[in-house]
Amino acid sequence: MNVEFAPSRPDTATTVVLPVAKGVLAERIAGEAAAEGLRAAASLARFEGEAGSIAEYVETRGGVARRILLLGTGSANESDAVKAGSALTAKLLTSGETALVLDAGGVATPVLMRMLEGVVLRGWRYDRYRTRLPATQKPTLDRIVVASAGDDASAAWTKASAVIDGVSFARELVTEPANIIYPESFVERCQRLAAMGVELQVLDEAAMAAAGMGALLGVGQGSERPSRLLVMKWDGTGGAAKTPVVFVGKGVTFDTGGISLKPPAGMEDMKWDMGGAAAVAGAMMALAGRKANAYVVGVCGLVENMPDGKAQRPGDVVTSMSGQTIEVINTDAEGRLVLCDAITWVQKNYSPKVLVDLATLTGAMIVSLGHEHGGIFANDDALATQLVAAGGAVGDPLWRMPLGEAYNKLIDSPIADMKNVGPREGGSITAAQFLQRFIDEGVAWAHLDIAGMVWASKPGPGWDKGATGYGVRLLDRYIADNHEG
Ligand code: BES
Ligand code: MN
Ligand code: ZN
Repeated sequence: MNVEFAPSRPDTATTVVLPVAKGVLAERIAGEAAAEGLRAAASLARFEGEAGSIAEYVETRGGVARRILLLGTGSANESDAVKAGSALTAKLLTSGETALVLDAGGVATPVLMRMLEGVVLRGWRYDRYRTRLPATQKPTLDRIVVASAGDDASAAWTKASAVIDGVSFARELVTEPANIIYPESFVERCQRLAAMGVELQVLDEAAMAAAGMGALLGVGQGSERPSRLLVMKWDGTGGAAKTPVVFVGKGVTFDTGGISLKPPAGMEDMKWDMGGAAAVAGAMMALAGRKANAYVVGVCGLVENMPDGKAQRPGDVVTSMSGQTIEVINTDAEGRLVLCDAITWVQKNYSPKVLVDLATLTGAMIVSLGHEHGGIFANDDALATQLVAAGGAVGDPLWRMPLGEAYNKLIDSPIADMKNVGPREGGSITAAQFLQRFIDEGVAWAHLDIAGMVWASKPGPGWDKGATGYGVRLLDRYIADNHEG
């Protein structure tokens, strides 16, 4: 979707959109040539400016139909703006219309940015494998002309669209099936970040073995696809920041469960078990794209969890890079095994003061919070507050979950330092406790269990069914609000 800015409404446009907040309809259309028709259309559709509601007025002039849409922006706050933009795209994306003019007169720039975000992201789709898509189902809308916006809108859009690119990139990685995206090809797709100024480092299995990453490598050993650790470094401070903020993502490109094999129904969903890694990669793209004034390192632990003659067995004991040993009770609790070594590696190599990991870690998280919030576990109240605030602001909501010694002791093992699963009860919490055992003294750490948020079974504000890109905007906003000048 192309977004352009114009000083005023071009009068050749066949679709013009007038954003209207709740309660201002009369004033908003008073100056319009078509005021009377618009008033009638609004009343016919019971339009009152509710966020995402639309009333349509069509007039013909010289045999050409021209459509004016009243677009409800509710309270004209940011979240209503996303809803409104999203509703607009849902209506027009495959309508046959190719371009629309959005009259942004009087709309505050931050609200306009969120509206455009809704427009663009609701229009994101991945039709690469749909070779027989009927013409009527193909997207037609590809151009938005924004008229009468504030002077600062075009510059603001340059930054906002960088973040949208990051969200789209994460969605692409999540949507691709596991025969296309596996550890090596995930790394390959991230090479485009290098041209944006992100420094990439890739550890292959030999390098990870040399580092002692027995937990991560144990998960990948049943797969034909070799594991990788991808490290992405963005320093927009020109060396002024001494230590980076670190993001770590779970990148299980397919999770069969391993020898503790998952049941067949719904197993295809496990292609998106790399949603944490995709969020980290997307966030790095966003930060580099808008040239964030911050030092951030993103790490993705990339493995495929398969059952095989070489696969690890329940009961195996592995030694993690930290030196701690782990009894692998259930090979399907693999995400924590991948994350713990990625976390140790990045702490050893970058000494961060802040570390945030993101993972589709537990089905229990979905049992707790459904698809409305990701769960956040943290050893630092300030960090938790900042992340919850960032998520709330951008529409990636988080809900804080507890940690504690009583949970921690549930993963003690009779044979090793710990086991990789606790009892069924509190399954998301014991998974977080497991990770906490790898966090160094003095590191502010948060773990985001996003199992319920990566994939949507129905459209929502800013997404269609499918990959949501959850986490990219959250991480970007967290950096913008807490780590940039
Ligand atoms: N990737 C899954 C968690 C998951 C399940 C994410 C459903 C999204 C949707 C994870 O690796 C897993 O299998 N977890 C197990 C842990 C259990 C064996 C302790 C689970 O949640 O069942
Ligand atoms: Mn699993
Ligand atoms: Zn998994």
